[in-house]
Amino acid sequence: MSDASARLIDGKAYAQTLRTAVAAEVAALKAEHGLIPGLAVVLVGDDAASAVYVRNKGEQTEAAGMYSETHRLPAATPQAELEALVKRLNADPKIHGILVQLPLPPGLDSAAVIAMIDPDKDVDGLSVVNAGRLASNLPALTPCTPVGCMVLLRDVIGDLAGLRAVVIGRSNLMGKPMAQLLLQADCTVTIAHSRTRDLAAVCREADILVAAVGRPQMVRGDWIKPGAVVIDVGVNRVASKDPEKAAAGKTRLVGDVAFDEALSIASAITPVPGGVGPMTIACLLQNTLTAARRIHGLEAG
Ligand code: GUN
Repeated sequence: MSDASARLIDGKAYAQTLRTAVAAEVAALKAEHGLIPGLAVVLVGDDAASAVYVRNKGEQTEAAGMYSETHRLPAATPQAELEALVKRLNADPKIHGILVQLPLPPGLDSAAVIAMIDPDKDVDGLSVVNAGRLASNLPALTPCTPVGCMVLLRDVIGDLAGLRAVVIGRSNLMGKPMAQLLLQADCTVTIAHSRTRDLAAVCREADILVAAVGRPQMVRGDWIKPGAVVIDVGVNRVASKDPEKAAAGKTRLVGDVAFDEALSIASAITPVPGGVGPMTIACLLQNTLTAARRIHGLEAG
């Protein structure tokens, strides 16, 4: 271990730059074509964290000059009602992007709902069509968090070709599309997961380590190759460090990486909060803009 301290990757600042760029493009689209991109977000149930994400999505959509609609439905909403809403949004010309906040409450079939979303409006990139397009190197709407991670990696590293990348996590929303994007950037990619044998040794191979498992501080300092770039996608709420505050129920956010340990080994790392998180909504705005342009034939692909 050295005393060197990793560069902190300021996702907040990158996200601000991206949002400003999207807002300028939205203004130009309005001025030149009279087109206002519209995003509909659907929240079912009363999960507190989801409610915060959804509120932020609505506020930032409006701040970028786009049209925003938020549909809040009770947890007991029947599947057919949710699917009927998605159908209406598919047909609504004001709406170019549809996002159904996940996870859905128990009893609702998220795969069936996602399958209903028009792939041209699927700004989460979750549909089979968009996943297939991504895997086939065709223009796709691509999940926002992996796109945000790629923006950060390209800025920190530049050309990623030939680097070894390890992605921990294999979800449709994060791990799998992340691996596809790294592969497109000519990395040698490993997807690791809960059944991977000797995960620490696999991680130690990585020039780029992306952790998206949802387990607080699981990746330890000695899992990291010296000089690696670490992207921490985890957002885990744990008890406050201060025992008195913890006893009072105070919590704090930590990532999937033991941040303090990683600092002296990695060359650069995203903090939690303030790293990957802010990029997700910025990329959602970008995807909504892209969807609006494509639906109106203003962009190839
Ligand atoms: N829940 C947590 N992150 C996301 C996301 O990016 N999209 C959706 N739909 N739900 C989420």
